[in-house]
Amino acid sequence: PPLNRIINLADMEDVAKQVLSYRAWAYYCSASDDEISLQENARAFQRFFFRARVMRPVSKCDPSTKILGFETSLPIFVSGSALAKLGHPLGEVNITKGCAPSKIIQMVSSNASLSYAEIAAARSPSQTLFFQFYKHKNDAIALNRIREIEQLGYKAIFLTVDAVVPSNRERDVRSPWVLDDQETGIKVYNDGEGTADTDPGLGVAGALIVNDDRDMTWEKTIPWLRSVTKLPIVIKGIQCVEDAILAAEAKVDGILLSNHGGRQLEYSLPPLEVLYRLQIQQPHIFDKLEVYIDGSVRRGTDVVKAVCLGAKAVGLGRPFLYAQSAYGEVGVRKIISILEREIITTMRLMGVAKIDELTPDLVERVDWQPV
Ligand code: FNR
Repeated sequence: PPLNRIINLADMEDVAKQVLSYRAWAYYCSASDDEISLQENARAFQRFFFRARVMRPVSKCDPSTKILGFETSLPIFVSGSALAKLGHPLGEVNITKGCAPSKIIQMVSSNASLSYAEIAAARSPSQTLFFQFYKHKNDAIALNRIREIEQLGYKAIFLTVDAVVPSNRERDVRSPWVLDDQETGIKVYNDGEGTADTDPGLGVAGALIVNDDRDMTWEKTIPWLRSVTKLPIVIKGIQCVEDAILAAEAKVDGILLSNHGGRQLEYSLPPLEVLYRLQIQQPHIFDKLEVYIDGSVRRGTDVVKAVCLGAKAVGLGRPFLYAQSAYGEVGVRKIISILEREIITTMRLMGVAKIDELTPDLVERVDWQPV
């Protein structure tokens, strides 16, 4: 369909489903076991309602903010997701170019299907890229990766900690294929990983993380990372309040509350619920580090709810993969403009003109769910 028929992110997902091969679709949309965490990530947003304020001036409304000090026109970013080339030959670069005009920050996956250099070369001069880091079990190899992305100008490291082992993703297992295969010609850039001889029964995810560090600890891994790089460090995949506190004690720059889009631990709490608990139990933590969430963010209202509860910004994973699969770079621009319109409309109807006016008192958690 013509792009002007796409009016929300669900429409974009429908088009992606039609254009993607079955196994690419299976890899992108899959989640663990019975996909309960995936469903609940979305349902959690339905338990939070707005307490809108009226009679407040909103003709001027500015949804721009900063993430780790870097400007962004909206409180959203791209959560790094592997293998964009499965959906479109230009892959990750579609996302880079699509994000450029709006200064949306792209977190590039360790398992990108283009080289980190190719992606960096596609960025506009003022554009910020972050790097999603899967730490190799060999520190020396991990360090080489950090040096490489530092030199390429990536501005922050998001260390993923919720994928120490592959999970059970059955859609993916049912459509087995190996990376580097003849048919797709798609190769993951993260060298030494994703070799074709890994157990196809693990699906794509299993093949991608075979060499990653399964023994990371607060005592060892964070001080090591701090000692080798000056880049801001964000922990991606915090799933409870206790670990958020440990992250603050480890003095990292940020935490991304995430259950990997429901793709790792099944029955991991929805990130929005973890954010809500953090806001109630540890309100001062938000002064110590930046907090983000991701997982099933699909509407401007979702973004605004998370920001009200203390998130500096929210990440989206699948929507960017779907948009670039369906329409390339323009698809990416399209979903950003849809989210922009939705975020601004929501803010105005809540009586809010600036991001820092979005506060916890503007949302209420209800114990019923819309039918
Ligand atoms: C991911 N995600 C992910 N995370 C990560 O740290 N490294 C990675 O390589 C990937 N790869 C990946 C591939 C695909 C196909 C998906 C869908 C996701 C997780 C991602 O960063 C993010 O946490 C979730 O995608 C957020 O949920 P939504 O927005 O997809 O619902």
